[in-house]
Amino acid sequence: AHQWRGVIREYADRLPVEDGDTIVTLGEGGTPLVYAPALSAETGNEVYLKVEGMNPTGSFKDRGMTMAVTAAVKAGAKAVVCASTGNTSASAAAFAKQAGITCAVLVPDGKISMGKLSQAVAHGAKIIQVDGNFDNCLEVARKLSENYPVYLVNSVNPARIEGQKTGAFEVVDFLGDAPDYHLLPVGNAGNITAYWKGYKEYASEYTNQAGAVLPAVSTKTPIMWGFQAAGSAPIVDGHPILEPETIATAIRIGNPASWEFAEAARDESGGLIDAVTDEEILEAHRWLSSREGVFVEPASAAGAAGLLKHHRAGTAPTGKKIVITVTGHGLKDPEWAVKGAGEDASPVKVEFDVVSVADALGLK
Ligand code: F0G
Repeated sequence: AHQWRGVIREYADRLPVEDGDTIVTLGEGGTPLVYAPALSAETGNEVYLKVEGMNPTGSFKDRGMTMAVTAAVKAGAKAVVCASTGNTSASAAAFAKQAGITCAVLVPDGKISMGKLSQAVAHGAKIIQVDGNFDNCLEVARKLSENYPVYLVNSVNPARIEGQKTGAFEVVDFLGDAPDYHLLPVGNAGNITAYWKGYKEYASEYTNQAGAVLPAVSTKTPIMWGFQAAGSAPIVDGHPILEPETIATAIRIGNPASWEFAEAARDESGGLIDAVTDEEILEAHRWLSSREGVFVEPASAAGAAGLLKHHRAGTAPTGKKIVITVTGHGLKDPEWAVKGAGEDASPVKVEFDVVSVADALGLK
């Protein structure tokens, strides 16, 4: 049986790596593309979820981080730095440890989930809580890397985008061709940029860095639909948001670094970037766990929220193959599941005997 070797080794011929590079990997990628029966039935499409919570640190960031930390090691870096709403920091911390280098993370004060913070703690990252939001953290991290001996591993580093484009490769490899639509959340806009790059590269001949010409793998590219949280929707609103707000803290971002690339993905694919409210995000978050069996963190539900929103508005397609990236694991931020489930989901307390348990379950 084939053992998945991480995205760099699986897709080495389409990534900027060379023989002899020391590859830093935790076996990331190779995540399941799960058929979503309820979303398919509800919207009249064939809907799949790309479950990125199955990556080693529980989010899609690992695809980019294997590339970024591999590049950092090649450059001789002794320390990496990133700004993060949580997942990037968890990922950077883990990959840095495997590489045996130091990791510093800049996180917004008080707006990062305990699950993610605990990962950075567990992996021994130097955690700096900045009195500001993600956008402020990123600004400082960029300046830090320009003026001090630390290597920046945010998605403004092209290596990150290269690694993350493998998500699109996997979708095509699994389905046999590109889907008609691809939906995903948008925060700093690195992931929509990466997916679009991956889909485009797979849809035409590709000359790799060794000079080999690889044939097209897919016959087409999908229409890209990206979704921001309504209180943090700079691309939708058309201007940076100075004080972004949303319960989906992963995408609480007011000035995305890859703004133009996200717009290019939207425009070149004939797609859209739209906003979903916190209520719509939480509804989709609950839908995914209670109807599809897939537990994600709130931000990760933005794509599904967008599909449901457009379905209700009559603006969603029907009869199409739709892939939605769900970006991070539900265990990252479990409090919303408990809050959303309501009374009937709380445990029933019973005596230690089989009849009490059967009674509690309504069994006769
Ligand atoms: N979903 C999750 C779970 C995320 O953590 C992020 C970004 C996104 C979606 C948005 O992806 O930024 O590429 O548009 N999290 C970053 C972080 C900002 O620091 O972990 P994007």
